[in-house]
Order: sequence, then structure tokens, then C-alpha cells
Amino acid sequence: MIKLSTILTSLFYLLPIYIFLIAPALRQFFPEESHTFDPDEDTVDLEGPILNDTILSLDDGITVTCPPDTYRVQILRHNPLVIYIEDFLSDSEADHLVKLSENSYTPSIIYDGTTEKIDPTTRLSDRALLPRDTTVRCLEARAKAFQGWRPHLYIERMWAQRYNASGHYRHHYDWAGSSARGGDRASTFMVYLGDECRGGGTNFPRFKRPRDERWCRFVECEGEHEGVTFRPVKGNAIFWENLRPDGTGYPETWHAAFPVTEGTKVGLNIWSWYQPPRRR
Ligand SMILES: *[C@@H]1O[C@H](CO)[C@@H](O)[C@H](O)[C@H]1NC(C)=O
Ligand SMILES: *[C@@H]1O[C@H](CO)[C@@H](O)[C@H](O)[C@H]1NC(C)=O
Repeated sequence: MIKLSTILTSLFYLLPIYIFLIAPALRQFFPEESHTFDPDEDTVDLEGPILNDTILSLDDGITVTCPPDTYRVQILRHNPLVIYIEDFLSDSEADHLVKLSENSYTPSIIYDGTTEKIDPTTRLSDRALLPRDTTVRCLEARAKAFQGWRPHLYIERMWAQRYNASGHYRHHYDWAGSSARGGDRASTFMVYLGDECRGGGTNFPRFKRPRDERWCRFVECEGEHEGVTFRPVKGNAIFWENLRPDGTGYPETWHAAFPVTEGTKVGLNIWSWYQPPRRR
């Protein structure tokens, strides 16, 4: 009969052998799928993105001629990288997109990881899917170029967001922190299309306020609010990275749309979806 102590003794010796010899050998022969960002990674994206063109602005062979870029940039901070962009859209582009969205607004939804629902205490605004006309396609191209045409990055279909008085969006992340949906939002451009409002700032409570008062053109330099609050300025945009190089989300990107107290704010989200390459 085998004694319990004999079993325990064998385990004592076998466990290290497994951990230090067998497991590494297995990893060598059966590598796990890589989910890290590596722009130079030369794996082929075998099947293209999992998500289809109801969610992503996929290449459909249509090419457009776009005006030259005329925006100016300031880096606000690193890790996560946050860049303020002046005149990302011209006035006429912003006006055009507002007009393009006008007849297709529906209540905004939130996604809690499993289902999509309407919840005015968390988010009160209306949203409109923008058809991919020339202006929208040029904006897709601008957003990709801004990010150095990073591989495996897809621009999501763009939605205009309209906030009436009392419209808001409570603090949240744009990233999910997992590739459960076949990818995650690597970066966000928060673009202001219409700024005829009071309130409605975009607040990042975990960012440190910039010291130089030249920033006061774009961020609230007075007031009680925590962190950095960007004022809505038509045509301007905030760009930030949501994901670390290893694909986990930055907790610093926790942000909110403060309530509009008067008038209407129109915003535009440009999300870049990172879809890790899959290997056969
Ligand atoms: C695209 O995906 C959505 C769900 O994400 C699905 O409802 C729709 O049927 C799909 N369309 C096509 C053409 O596959
Ligand atoms: C915002 O105002 C428009 C126009 O008056 C209205 O149709 C829409 O329902 C309002 N949206 C919200 C969320 O209150």
C-alpha cells in the first residue's frame, strides 16, 4: 500500500520539475497567443477584424481627397499620453457634421459589459451615427495618420453626441480592459463640434492641472472641480491613450462630461479599436 507521506514526498520533488522544466518546455512548443502591442510585430492578421462594418469603419476601397492638416498640438502629459489639438476640425467641417447628424439622434446608451441600456442618471444625451461621407472619411484618415498608421488599429464608426441642458455623462472609462469583444479602445479623440453652451466641460479628476497659464484658454483654471476640466471649444479635440503597451487600461483616464447648464453641446467621439493579430 502506498503511504500518504510517500505521495507528498513525490509531489514535493515533482512540482519544481514541472514548474521549472516541463512548463517552460511546453510554452516553447505551444506559445500562447500574444495580446501585447508591438507595432513591429510581423504576424499576419489572418482573418481581419472580428467586428464588422456596423461597428468599425473598415476599408471599403473608397478613396477621398482631403484638405491638408492645419491643426496645432500641445502635449498635456505622458503615461497616459494626452495631447490637446487645436483646430482638429475646421469650422465648416464641424458645422457640416452637426448638420449631417441632425435628423438621426436617438437616446445614448451605456454598455455595462454584457448589455446595452439607457440610464439617464449615468448618461443623458442623444447620439447619431454619422454616414461615411467625404468629411467623415477625411476625419478617419486624419485620426489614423495622427497615430502613425499603427497596425491593427481600426476607427470605430463615428457618433455625434448631443447634450441639452442637464445632459451629462458620469465618470467612466472608454476601455473595457479585456479583449472579450475581440479588441478594445486603444485611444479616444474627444472632439467638440458645437460649443454654444455653459458647463459641459470634459473632466479628468486624476490628471494634474498644467501650471502654465497659457493652458487656461482650453482648461478651467478656476473652480472647485478636481483634476483637469477641458472647456468645449468648437473644432478642438483632446486625444488620449486608453491602453498601456500590455493592453491593460489606464486608470488615469477616468473622465466625465459635466452637465450642460445652458444651451447645447455637440461632441464627437473618435475611438480607435485595437484588434490583436490572431495566429492560426
Ligand atoms: C455585424 O455585426 C452585428 C453585431 O455586432 C450583427 O448584428 C450584424 O448582423 C452583422 N452584420 C453582418 C453583415 O455580418
Ligand atoms: C434635447 O433636445 C431635443 C430638441 O428639443 C429633443 O428632441 C431631445 O429629446 C432632447 N434630448 C434629451 C436627452 O433631453
